[in-house]
Amino acid sequence: GGVITLDPGYKNTGSCESAITFLDGENGVLRYRGYSIEELAEKADFLEVAYLLIFGELPTKEQLDKFDKDIKSHSVVDDDIKKILDAFPKSAHPMGVLSSLTSALTAFYPTSVDVTSEEQMYNSIVRILAKFPVLVAWTLRKKHGLPLDYGDNKLSYVENILKMMFKSPSSDYEQNPILVNALDKLLILHADHEQNCSTSTVRIAGSSHAGLFVSLASGISALWGPLHGGANQAVLEMLEAIKADGGDTKKYMAKAKDKNDPFRLMGFGHRVYKNFDPRAKIIKAAADEVLNDLGIDDPILDIAKGLAKEALEDPYFIDRKLYPNVDFYSGIIYRAMGIPVEMFTVMFALGRLPGWIAQWREMRLRNEPIGRPRQLYIGETLREFKTIEKR
Ligand code: CMC
Repeated sequence: GGVITLDPGYKNTGSCESAITFLDGENGVLRYRGYSIEELAEKADFLEVAYLLIFGELPTKEQLDKFDKDIKSHSVVDDDIKKILDAFPKSAHPMGVLSSLTSALTAFYPTSVDVTSEEQMYNSIVRILAKFPVLVAWTLRKKHGLPLDYGDNKLSYVENILKMMFKSPSSDYEQNPILVNALDKLLILHADHEQNCSTSTVRIAGSSHAGLFVSLASGISALWGPLHGGANQAVLEMLEAIKADGGDTKKYMAKAKDKNDPFRLMGFGHRVYKNFDPRAKIIKAAADEVLNDLGIDDPILDIAKGLAKEALEDPYFIDRKLYPNVDFYSGIIYRAMGIPVEMFTVMFALGRLPGWIAQWREMRLRNEPIGRPRQLYIGETLREFKTIEKR
């Protein structure tokens, strides 16, 4: 081997070549397959973006119809999965449940592991795109004690997500176009973000030729943490805490700056964006719009805006180039939609699913080698073994 360069957190290590997402952190630019995130959020729907990310081009009408139909043909989940879901305590965090159920799917659809042809790969991809929202909806419904059901083939992908999550057994579910629109936008904004922690996890797990579903389950676990996708839950909990504390934003600013306090301002800072997070800009505007359209006056939004204003003017945050990130305002929209805080990171996973799939597929099609970083050993040199009596 050659010289090993140490780079904790892989801050300056490229792990692959990729043609999926372009990110310029200095200038706040994000593009999927060459299309700007602003334009996609405005003009495309989530399923089109999923197709674009995975297959590289915006679909024609026929391609999109086929994709949608293929996904719908796989929307049934084996009934035995319900038994597994039943075995979880009601208090289980949905991210752990989903990671487990996604892994468990492999046992019920073992052919999904065999992806030696592009056709087999396609089948696994449409399968998981179909079943994952069902698992998400079931996880939420179980918490609410609602019967588990399936989607409606006449609805769009995003409409189905909302209906599967919220339909009450006693009445028809009426789609609210404001919510459909907002969710569509949120999912698009979360759909890919090049080699972030969860995506790198999916690629590295998949690089051993473990199947797609278990590779995704690894990604879900990585996303769960509060420094990554879990930040959206953490943001809302933080805003709630500030509210309960009489709206004292200054106190939390001081805590965030105090190097003896582990507290960080959740929803602030990003490994790559050092100017602004273009997704946060779009989401901030969307949060205003959704709350306005729904006629909701949420004091949490005012606290968020106040906090952001203070941070953006504070030398600590300016010097470290810390700006509101994608998760800072997303929870406010999810809350307005009636999604419980514990499900926020699950919504991130729903959005990130096509990105993970696209990155996994690219990795397999490029025949990338197994991911295997090196280390600099800093432990003991050779020692003599001592029997237990002598230790
Ligand atoms: N609050 C207070 N200080 C912070 C924060 C924050 N949110 N973020 C970074 N810093 C400070 C950090 O203490 C360090 O200061 P110093 O140079 O004095 O030691 C400096 O800024 C650089 O931080 P870092 O931890 O070296 O930066 P990183 O690139 O390793 O971490 C991050 C990036 C996103 C993990 C971090 O900014 C963070 O923990 N943010 C809060 C959690 C969060 O919002 N995560 C969501 C990220 S966006 C969605 C996603 O992609 O998952």
